[in-house]
Amino acid sequence: MPRTAGPFVAVQHAPHNAMDDPREIERFHDRCSDLMRELLDGLAAAPDRPRPFPEIEDAIGWPHRRIASVLGGASRMRHREFGGRRPYRFLGPRESASGRWEMWMDDLQARAVVEAVLGEQKDYYRAVAAEYGDHAILFGDAGLPAVVDTFRPAGRVLELACGPGAWTPQLLRHADSVTAVDASAEMLAIAADQVTDKRVRFIHADLFAWEPDGRYDVVFFGFWLSHVPLERFEAFWSLVGRCLQPHGRVLFVDDAYRPPDELVYGESSHFVRRRLNDGTAFRILKLPHTPAELERRLKELGWQVEVRSAEAPFFWGAGYFQTRT
Ligand SMILES: C[S@@+](CC[C@H](N)C(=O)[O-])C[C@H]1O[C@@H](n2cnc3c(N)ncnc32)[C@H](O)[C@@H]1O
Repeated sequence: MPRTAGPFVAVQHAPHNAMDDPREIERFHDRCSDLMRELLDGLAAAPDRPRPFPEIEDAIGWPHRRIASVLGGASRMRHREFGGRRPYRFLGPRESASGRWEMWMDDLQARAVVEAVLGEQKDYYRAVAAEYGDHAILFGDAGLPAVVDTFRPAGRVLELACGPGAWTPQLLRHADSVTAVDASAEMLAIAADQVTDKRVRFIHADLFAWEPDGRYDVVFFGFWLSHVPLERFEAFWSLVGRCLQPHGRVLFVDDAYRPPDELVYGESSHFVRRRLNDGTAFRILKLPHTPAELERRLKELGWQVEVRSAEAPFFWGAGYFQTRT
């Protein structure tokens, strides 16, 4: 991971106070108030871009002057527990282009925040497993099961982020076997209860650290890609490549549904807030991919994947790695 101090290194305000240890940044993110976390998440959404406070406040939907009060509120904790260090950087009014105080997160700091949110995303899915059905979006099946049947996921099939196993029985209609991976033991327990077919093997693992123990004919993932941060997009697709036989195929279904009450970090942020039925809040990633943008990104990585809209906000993608003959 590159160690970057962002632009204007020489003229920053007290650059020695800017954290550069990802573990310390994650700890700060864990320890700080909800409002401070909202600010950190808003800064992480635009790394390496010094902005005046009102511009940042507008981007995260805050009233003006809230940043100053949140920074003030965090000051004691920052000094007591972190020796005065902070996971963001400042330009003073004399050095900044705007002539006002500006702040930002450098690339390393922003990545550490994404790590922290990925951890919280796993926690969310563990906690929501028992009430998962209550949070499903109610748009009917939008033709997605028909997409799976048309694709015919035959042979050895790998299902990533299988959750409670909603797609597994459908994959089994075509597959010889299904290996289904998920990071939530709670989700996997529900899946194992619902899908008792002996051709299924469940694996409890974090997909950002997992390696396959074999090659598959098909890799499938439902409503997962929109939870993969852009910083991990390429690495994730390289994992998909390592999971596939030379002539293997990939199929995914997903949605870009981000209701206004979840967009507490602003429209442009990839972080959203989800709540359990009891109101407990979690930050997770939800990227608003579009078919054209996804197709382009995948092509750049060597994938020949057709991405198509289904009934809004759903879409699906099907294809293979381009080098196949
Ligand atoms: C939106 S749910 C999709 C579940 C299922 N595929 C479906 O369509 O209903 C996302 C799933 O990703 C899993 N997940 C979250 N972070 C993960 C990680 N780092 N590694 C593996 N699975 C993860 C969650 O536990 C959850 O089951």
